[in-house]
Amino acid sequence: MFGLFEIYIVNSEKIIYKISLNKKGECVLMHILFISVLVLAHTLAFAGPPPKVTPELLAKGKASFEVNCLTCHGATGDGNGPAGQYMNPKPRNFGKDKLKNGDTPESMFKTVSNGLVNTAMVAFGHLPEEERWAIILYIRTTFMKK
Ligand code: HEC
Repeated sequence: MFGLFEIYIVNSEKIIYKISLNKKGECVLMHILFISVLVLAHTLAFAGPPPKVTPELLAKGKASFEVNCLTCHGATGDGNGPAGQYMNPKPRNFGKDKLKNGDTPESMFKTVSNGLVNTAMVAFGHLPEEERWAIILYIRTTFMKK
């Protein structure tokens, strides 16, 4: 792809190894890079399927919602949390409004993981995957009723 490809393995600015790749080596390297990008995209966008709803999972979701989301989304999910009521755009009323970013469990997972650009809805990708699902399933079963 780029002709001769060279990799330097450097330790405190001293070159220890210099690996020159021929066309085939380059191809293998590109493959590895491509696969890593795919794996990363996969974990970001399409995490596994939603876990099974259990009372324990919903309890976990409720606890985490109260810590991470309630200030804006409100205790009843109507978007009128202590901070949320003054926002523009305001958070949706989960019980009534259509979600602009999609309201399937998967699209909500994506919204929560990546956030919505230029709004107060920041990304929560730092929360463990199971916890993100727990919150979403709590929101769906408690406020969205579908
Ligand atoms: C600092 C305030 C704030 C916090 C905290 C917050 N949100 Fe949001 N959220 C918003 C706002 C504002 C919007 C609406 C953004 C818009 O209109 O684009 C939103 C939108 C959303 C949406 C998508 C609505 C749509 O129309 O697609 C979901 C789902 C959501 N939030 C879930 C959560 C969850 C789950 C948490 C906690 C882990 C959380 N939010 C924490 C402010 C917040």
